[in-house]
Amino acid sequence: MTLIKVVKLGGSVITCKDSPFTVNVPVLYDLAHQISKYLRDNLGASLVLIHGGGSYGHALVRECLSMYGRITRECFVRTAHYMMMLNNIVLEVMLANGIEAVSIPTRSICYAVDSTVICNVDQIRRCISAGILPVVFGDVVIDISSAGEAKYIVVSGDKLAQMIAREFHVNEVILVTDVDGIFTSDPKRDKSAKLIKELKAAEVRGRVKFMEVTDVTGGMGSKVVEMLEYCTEGTRILVIGGFIKDNLYNALSMKEFIGTTIWC
Ligand SMILES: Nc1ncnc2c1ncn2[C@@H]1O[C@H](COP(=O)(O)OP(=O)(O)OP(=O)(O)O)[C@@H](O)[C@H]1O
Ligand SMILES: [Mg+2]
Repeated sequence: MTLIKVVKLGGSVITCKDSPFTVNVPVLYDLAHQISKYLRDNLGASLVLIHGGGSYGHALVRECLSMYGRITRECFVRTAHYMMMLNNIVLEVMLANGIEAVSIPTRSICYAVDSTVICNVDQIRRCISAGILPVVFGDVVIDISSAGEAKYIVVSGDKLAQMIAREFHVNEVILVTDVDGIFTSDPKRDKSAKLIKELKAAEVRGRVKFMEVTDVTGGMGSKVVEMLEYCTEGTRILVIGGFIKDNLYNALSMKEFIGTTIWC
């Protein structure tokens, strides 16, 4: 059986989160280059690539929530469209780096029933079998509520990472983000925060303080909670810094990297 790894490129890394609809092109390019190098060095290795929303998804959804208190139909179609634009750029950069990747929009394989997300991962499986890198992303999906009215919810890239890891019995998930890993508290607000290199899943809540963020999908805290839901014995989850030279390549290649390893 082929070993599959899941890599999520945080929107915090591939976009400039403070600047609407702006891709951090040099960083995205560099990360694609590292993925390409790993795939060339390890012929037959399989990855599923996920990316987050960054400055394409979060701000739009936040605006909708503050104006209407929910994601309206108009918000749904606009957010879907802007996520597609980000995804097109991600794909463009992957192809430019010689990676045979194809996009699978999350909203076309997932829906929700009363906020419970259901995905059909057959298309992802077919891509992997064909040797193609499937790319999914944090997105908006239709929620068929039991009340009969269509609603719309966000499915984060972290949630997808968890669901895909579970479906494919993946034993390594790499979450690339804009900080160097999981710290004792938010390193952007607490200068004394220390990077935690290794963490047992059971220790997370005791050792780490997650700060509230304005992000619609909740930042590092939600990321970790999401992954703990999937944690099964023998699995490791890496949260790594995306701005460090060769860091993703090293993590993928089981070499030394900067980040946190969560042992399940
Ligand atoms: N204990 C902590 N350790 C590390 N980061 C933390 C912690 N608590 C809060 N954070 C914040 O979480 C942020 C990362 O989450 P964020 O959702 O912004 O990134 P992402 O998931 O990579 O991006 P996206 O959601 O767009 O895909 C960091 O920039 C940091 O400020
Ligand atoms: Mg996030």
